[in-house]
Amino acid sequence: MEIKYADTTTDIYIGNAWELLDKLLPGKDVIIITDINVGELYGDYFPEYPVITIGTGEAVKEPDTVETIIKHLLVTGADRSSFLLGIGGGIVCDITGFVASIFMRGTKFGFVSTTLLAQVDASIGGKNGVNVNGIKNIIGCFNQPSFVVCDTGLLKSLPDEEFISGLGELVKHALIRDYELFEMIEKNTEAILKRREDLLKELIAKSIEIKASIVEKDEKEAGERRLLNFGHTLGHAIESSTGLSHGKSIAAGMMAAVEISYDEKLISMEETERIKKTFKNLGLMQEIKTRWQDISEKIFADKKRKGKDLYFILLNGIGNAIQKEYPLEEIINRLRAKTG
Ligand SMILES: NC(=O)c1ccc[n+]([C@@H]2O[C@H](COP(=O)([O-])OP(=O)(O)OC[C@H]3O[C@@H](n4cnc5c(N)ncnc54)[C@H](O)[C@@H]3O)[C@@H](O)[C@H]2O)c1
Ligand SMILES: [Zn+2]
Repeated sequence: MEIKYADTTTDIYIGNAWELLDKLLPGKDVIIITDINVGELYGDYFPEYPVITIGTGEAVKEPDTVETIIKHLLVTGADRSSFLLGIGGGIVCDITGFVASIFMRGTKFGFVSTTLLAQVDASIGGKNGVNVNGIKNIIGCFNQPSFVVCDTGLLKSLPDEEFISGLGELVKHALIRDYELFEMIEKNTEAILKRREDLLKELIAKSIEIKASIVEKDEKEAGERRLLNFGHTLGHAIESSTGLSHGKSIAAGMMAAVEISYDEKLISMEETERIKKTFKNLGLMQEIKTRWQDISEKIFADKKRKGKDLYFILLNGIGNAIQKEYPLEEIINRLRAKTG
């Protein structure tokens, strides 16, 4: 699949990573960035280039790690013509893209995305960056990789919690854009949880197509790209105040948005129930135990950083997301009514 942007294209491949890399890499001056888990699991299969290994977890996605990587790049003799290959989940991809964008004002880069979340979401769309003092993605840039390889075989070793979390974004893409994809997920929840590879390949390809088609039209998030934030206003606040996985948090956010859509007479009760059941069958429903006060404070802080008005994404039926501009207080009141 080819994604076309204003001044570049990214090629997306779904298949065996190690075979594909043989063809895709420039042949010299490649430096691999990975994390310690992925390095331990798959390091033996990596092509023969220098490897920089980082730790795991959000705390690693900070400027210190960027500096450490750059110091390693200098030691390996990297320069502007080097190619940085990130092999890992969303954290490795976000950091690799960021380092590649700033090292000597920019080198080429590519990803092998090894988590479901990275395959359907983080590696697609060209947002790169790191956190500062735990504030998510507060520095970063838009810059597209030359290629992204999604190898569903690598997902076999993913812990259940990580796999299920990635399913949240997959369902999100279906809900905002593709009724048939939602039906396919709804009918196959058991096979999905068993990670049946042929099915995963098809679902991931469709999900990437949806994100790519939105990002192609709105690379810098001036309009349509906001649809991808479906479930995220509340989801981010739940994630940071409860520590629940990203997928479960946005599932709760999406469910609240679906219920508001029902109140607005945009979606039927039957559709609302189908969505709830699908989240439940995929293991994405979780009771939220936190104080509403914490959640609303997080939403306010987020809004303060982003400025501007708050767009809220609703569903005008499954597969058709719309944006609605609400005053922040009204969103918070409505969400409070939905989450208790
Ligand atoms: N740039 C974007 O558009 C975008 C979009 C969504 C999320 N993100 C970012 O992505 C990050 C989360 O990504 P993630 O969920 O992939 O987390 P992650 O990169 O932390 O990976 C999750 C865990 O799985 C391990 N792992 C990775 N691949 C594995 C495999 N094949 N088998 C076994 N274990 C494996 C990792 O070592 C890690 O411990 C967040 O920082 C988020 O901000 C970015
Ligand atoms: Zn998300």
